[in-house]
Amino acid sequence: MKDYSLLIDRESIPRHVAIIMDGNGRWARRRSLPRVEGHRRGAQVIESLMDTAIDLGIEVVSLYAFSTENWSRPKDEIAGIWRLLEMFFEANIDAIMKKGVLLRHSGSMRRLPASTRRIIEESVARTRGNRAITLNFCLNYGGRQELVEAVNAWAASKRQGEKLTERSFERHLYTAGLPDVDLLIRTSGERRVSNFLLWQIAYAEMIFTSVLWPDFRPRHLYRMIYEYQQRDRRFGGL
Ligand code: IPE
Ligand code: IPE
Ligand code: MG
Repeated sequence: MKDYSLLIDRESIPRHVAIIMDGNGRWARRRSLPRVEGHRRGAQVIESLMDTAIDLGIEVVSLYAFSTENWSRPKDEIAGIWRLLEMFFEANIDAIMKKGVLLRHSGSMRRLPASTRRIIEESVARTRGNRAITLNFCLNYGGRQELVEAVNAWAASKRQGEKLTERSFERHLYTAGLPDVDLLIRTSGERRVSNFLLWQIAYAEMIFTSVLWPDFRPRHLYRMIYEYQQRDRRFGGL
């Protein structure tokens, strides 16, 4: 396979890459392992991904880790996902600090187990001064929920007669202050958005791959950044 990292133009790196990390369950099933083992191997992919994203100079990586629709899964799978996330933050916080990763959370903290909520809040607070890259964990995230919450938050804070604008609206999104998504990646062969960052992907380039998330490696990301750079982004112009 070609080494795409050498072909990439370092001057035109996408600022914000959003990833729908899909296919953990199928990865496990193919090996006759429990689904949670797929989630465990999937979580391990994130560390090398951070290094690659920092090497490329990507400003923001958003990771879809749990959707508002994922509550419809069996209770024990959901509990396993929270446990793994807690372990991820515990095991990686030192590396995250050393690499200079700023952590954010997008989504609702409601319904999350207290222990998960605490470790996320602590980790986010600890990394507040970091500047190398922003890692935006989308947990209990739903695009429609985000839009509705933003409208309500704006309505509660608006001055009399004030009209909603795109800019004032964006300040109430979970992703306030982050740039729009330039590149949306989805693994596992599904070609849908599944309620992810609906507002922010308005002009995103999309890349779908059949690679299952636990098999995702730095070389895949390099190849996708190269593919992104071959696209002609017109934003409605000529
Ligand atoms: C993505 O993998 C992780 C989460 C949604 C939490 P899946 O668990 O959806 O894996 P598949 O789609 O069943 O293979
Ligand atoms: C999307 O994957 C959510 C995450 C990756 C966290 P799903 O597996 O839940 O999406 P659908 O159900 O296939 O659309
Ligand atoms: Mg899935």
